[in-house]
Amino acid sequence: MIEKKDFFDFAPKIISWIDRYFKNLESFPVKSQVHPEEIYKQLPTNPPNQSESLDDILDDLDKIILPGITHWQHPNFHAYFPANSSIESLFAEFITAAIGAQCMIWDTSPAAAELEKRVLNWLRDEMKIPNHFEGVIQDTASTATLSAIITAREVVTDFEANENGVPSNLRVYCSTQTHSSIEKAVKIAGIGRKNIVKIKVDEKYRLIPEELEQAIQQDISEGKIPCCVIASIGTTSTVAVDPLYEIGKICQKYKVWLHVDAAYLGTALLLEEYQWMNRGIEMADSFVFNPHKWLFTNFDCTAYYVKDVNLLLQTFEVLPEYLKTKTRGIVNDYRDWGIPLGRRFRALKLWFVIRSYGMEGIREKLRHHISLNSYFASKIESSPHFELMMPPFATFTGFRFRPNGIDDLEKLNQINKDFLNSINRKGQLYLSHTKVNDQFLIRMIIAQTYVNQHHVNKALDLLTEEAALF
Ligand SMILES: Cc1ncc(COP(=O)(O)O)c(C=O)c1O
Repeated sequence: MIEKKDFFDFAPKIISWIDRYFKNLESFPVKSQVHPEEIYKQLPTNPPNQSESLDDILDDLDKIILPGITHWQHPNFHAYFPANSSIESLFAEFITAAIGAQCMIWDTSPAAAELEKRVLNWLRDEMKIPNHFEGVIQDTASTATLSAIITAREVVTDFEANENGVPSNLRVYCSTQTHSSIEKAVKIAGIGRKNIVKIKVDEKYRLIPEELEQAIQQDISEGKIPCCVIASIGTTSTVAVDPLYEIGKICQKYKVWLHVDAAYLGTALLLEEYQWMNRGIEMADSFVFNPHKWLFTNFDCTAYYVKDVNLLLQTFEVLPEYLKTKTRGIVNDYRDWGIPLGRRFRALKLWFVIRSYGMEGIREKLRHHISLNSYFASKIESSPHFELMMPPFATFTGFRFRPNGIDDLEKLNQINKDFLNSINRKGQLYLSHTKVNDQFLIRMIIAQTYVNQHHVNKALDLLTEEAALF
């Protein structure tokens, strides 16, 4: 057990552990290579009765835990979307943990509430989201989307669902490419999975607005109630961008809540050249993006914006006696802005990151990632071993291994699956896949905070070496 007064004697052990971790990071397998239960079985059945030393705990961290870690901060982590971080964000997390504030209401840490308001306003303005939107930090995009769908449910039922339960004829629309968090939110919100309407996409995997309008009209003619539409700026599978303006017009016409899921690609709105994705944003009711994906702020940190905060408050507010304060109504009590009561002080890490990088530094890094991706795609395109399946976009390239003489779709899919497994097993790169039009496609995402040219070259070399083995 460590006394507070001894903090300074022990803290260097942790700092040097982290320093060693960063120095050795690139020598670890990116994707953990352990088998199911391998870690669990090494952990004692019962907790220790007597105090154990920090040295012993750190030893076991190295021996038992580290092999079971997939290293998301490894620059050759190219799978899924990143959960990137930065030194600044890590430092802020130290301090957040030291302060240990529970920021449920303004009174329980005024600085946390006011910093949250300020940094979210900064990002909103820099992303050119209209300034009548107000933001709140949530743990994940899934929670933000759940909040949006529950609010939409209340608006469309005139707040009756909160009082009497959810009618069975509310409808939620999204494209076939939309993230699974929408389906989960619809289930949790009591709307029922059968009431999700998946709208067809075009050849670029974007929701087709005419199909959306037809689906809404059809539902209305059958007595169903359109409740919410989800548009994506950057789908998970292929980073497709739905036509927000056209979708927004339809939502206005039929008075349907429009939620924009920009979990990953939203960060690109900080760049002028990606502002086209924002056309129509003024017609949205809510918008979410994750600084914990591509804004160098470690998990968890989601920015959720709503056009009319009162609707959010009316949906979530409950006021037990013990939470009544004198400042109520003149400050932001964020407990009313989402699902949990208790809240971490997450704004601090965003503040550290934004101040230490500056907006120019952030933009520079984003553009660096994007240019590395274009370089990667150009090499794939000119390689005799690979086929570029989707043009590079932002930090994403979709490609597949294309051995000479194999044209059969099933065979190509299987060989690509094997190729990807083999690459990931070797532990020097980590990539993930998707399937589009029945074709297995390898996803390359180049967006880890500290990724550089030589990491991309290494990835290209390893892919080429692997191709030679098949
Ligand atoms: C487009 C999209 N929306 C939502 C999510 C869910 O994000 P979170 O893990 O923050 O809930 C993801 C996760 O990758 C995503 O890609």
